Amino acid sequence: MTPKPVVLVTGCAGFIGSHTVDTLLAGGYRVLGIDDLSSGHRSNLAQCDGHPRFVFVEADITADLDSVLDAATAQVGPIERIVHLAAQTMVPLSITDPVHDVRVNIEGTVRVLDYARRHAVKKVVFASSSAVFDDDAAVPVNEDSPVRPSSPYAIGKLGGELFLDYHARIHGLNYTALRFMNVYGPRQDPDSAYSGVISIFLDKALAHAPITIFGDGGQTRDFVHVRDVTRAIASACRDGVGDRAVINLGTGEETRIDALARLILDLTASRSAIHHAPARPGDIRYSVTTLDRAGDLLGFRPSVGLREGLADTLAWVSGRKAMAETP
Ligand code: UD1
Repeated sequence: MTPKPVVLVTGCAGFIGSHTVDTLLAGGYRVLGIDDLSSGHRSNLAQCDGHPRFVFVEADITADLDSVLDAATAQVGPIERIVHLAAQTMVPLSITDPVHDVRVNIEGTVRVLDYARRHAVKKVVFASSSAVFDDDAAVPVNEDSPVRPSSPYAIGKLGGELFLDYHARIHGLNYTALRFMNVYGPRQDPDSAYSGVISIFLDKALAHAPITIFGDGGQTRDFVHVRDVTRAIASACRDGVGDRAVINLGTGEETRIDALARLILDLTASRSAIHHAPARPGDIRYSVTTLDRAGDLLGFRPSVGLREGLADTLAWVSGRKAMAETP
């Protein structure tokens, strides 16, 4: 039997990246992971240590990728697919330090695509974001909804999509760009102030510490579990699946932030108080996607409901807390 292709996963030690590595290894792929550990953690990959089909390279995607990847490709073989997840992911930080954001998210993406072109990589799966949409776009959004980035982060994601389209038309590179809605699940670091709301609320609820809702709590989000996201990434790695397409990825379910807070307090039997603070500048009001294109092109249907996903994330946050408290 011919071995499955070699996939390069950039940002492999991050939240979505490490789950992607798990899913691809389980699918029989050989995986080369690159991460500079600036926000990812080596511990996210502990389960892959010693795996015969996994090689980890600690490096920055803005480095000279040929010299960084040469030794690893000599070991696992030439890269046939790339899942490009490495990014500066904090939207507020992209506003305070746009130069750094552009360096990682635009220059980094261009370097990855340039590597793909020069090494005849067959397909690139790119993590785009629902942040590209116009804040005033009617919900549910679909792939034809108006785009109008309101942060350097979102400009970088839209720019990545445009670079993919250019590489496809001019250099024949195949790709799928997935516009993620709000991804959550185990390994989403709750420690950063810019972390996802679910990991922050769960962490606070477990400690019975106050939970802060920015604004009135009536804003909505489409929360998609990381397991569903990595299933979609793995589907998109295949030829003939989602080729040269931009696809929204969520659940199609809209959840209010105040309802989420109550659900989490219930689930954790928490005594946390709920406080309200002024709405975050630039916070969009409603966010949810249709799934027609994801269904048609990827055969995607979300499989993890919010309650099940929260329970699963809670187990991880509790385990992490228990470890931190062990003397
Ligand atoms: C998220 C993504 C961002 C992506 C964008 C696309 C995360 C961490 N960020 O931003 O990368 O590009 O979607 O639309 O996934 N909130 C509170 N209290 C808190 C924290 C948050 O009320 O302690 C509220 C926020 O004000 C917001 C909602 O919860 O209304 C979701 O916040 P967050 O998880 O940070 O995600 P987005 O801002 O939607």
